[in-house]
Amino acid sequence: MGGRHASNLTYLVAAADVTAIMDVDSARANEIAARCGGAQIYTDAEQLIAAPEVEAVVIAAPNRFHAELTRECIAAGKPVLCEKPLATGGDEAAEVVDAEVSGGRRLVQVGLMRQYDPAHIAVKRVSDNGAQGKALVFRSVHINSSDGWAPSLDDVITGSLIHDIHSARWMMGDEIVGVHTSHIPFSSDRPDSARYVMVQLQFASGALGGLECNADAGYGYEIEVSITGETGVVHSSPLQSPVVRHSNASGQWVEEDWLQRFSAAYINEAQAWVQSVLDGEAAGPSAWDGYVSILVADACIASGRESRPVAVSLPEKPSIYG
Ligand SMILES: NC(=O)c1ccc[n+]([C@@H]2O[C@H](COP(=O)([O-])OP(=O)(O)OC[C@H]3O[C@@H](n4cnc5c(N)ncnc54)[C@H](O)[C@@H]3O)[C@@H](O)[C@H]2O)c1
Repeated sequence: MGGRHASNLTYLVAAADVTAIMDVDSARANEIAARCGGAQIYTDAEQLIAAPEVEAVVIAAPNRFHAELTRECIAAGKPVLCEKPLATGGDEAAEVVDAEVSGGRRLVQVGLMRQYDPAHIAVKRVSDNGAQGKALVFRSVHINSSDGWAPSLDDVITGSLIHDIHSARWMMGDEIVGVHTSHIPFSSDRPDSARYVMVQLQFASGALGGLECNADAGYGYEIEVSITGETGVVHSSPLQSPVVRHSNASGQWVEEDWLQRFSAAYINEAQAWVQSVLDGEAAGPSAWDGYVSILVADACIASGRESRPVAVSLPEKPSIYG
């Protein structure tokens, strides 16, 4: 993911240069720095964050480093685009929010990039126009191909469904107040694994939602999203690719992974982030959104483990988040 961000910022985003790279894998750092026109390589993340030639930072290290590195960027007063999830749990995410609030201004954008995907934006725009009446039900279906990896329930929820959790809040303009998770494991000797996960959502307004993730569909990568209103439904187009008829068959190509499906969203996200850095004010999914998505994800995991509905209660939103 870091390599994709570096390439997008170098070649596809005006007004951005990748000046520095840090990766504990030096071969990987060298490869990406060379691709970005010879960026300076650092072996220490703190030094990179403090470097004068670094005006803003993208964090795409493994999840367990996100919160600490984001707090270091806040302490250095540098805007940061941190990949999802913002942290590995609610307490750690709250520390990031507290650090940003103490500084008095938003510096953090979280890589919940569905907000920059044309298909999601189109569904939200139609739903917000209200032609199909008040929104009653949000649905998202997330299809992954796992390449033989049997992810745990935690992995599916914090790695994949966290995007759908954010879509639900953002597209409905509503908060999730309760969840109920069910899942099918890959095998009976690995009950913690999750081949298929279904989450039922309860929104504060009384609306309902359903999130599904097939962790091992075996045919490609797909995301479907829909909002049902009182008098109609808005649904994303199932596939963007052209229809090909050949040999008495008709078919469409399905994307292989998120890098293909969301290629435009990642570029739009990077462009919007750089513009917010130039404007001097962070925009897009905030540290608060990152925090709330983790609180909901934690509730989904607890619900799945304990086979019961779990309520989500949110602390008061600090004023810097609007
Ligand atoms: N927004 C999205 O759609 C999306 C998609 C994929 C991944 N991600 C996120 O991006 C992050 C990276 O995922 P990935 O699939 O690229 O993983 P990856 O394992 O392919 O890459 C992680 C990189 O981080 C490096 N690394 C390890 N420890 C480090 C440290 N302490 N400091 C700096 N670098 C370190 C590794 O050497 C590796 O090159 C994850 O947090 C993941 O959730 C987001």
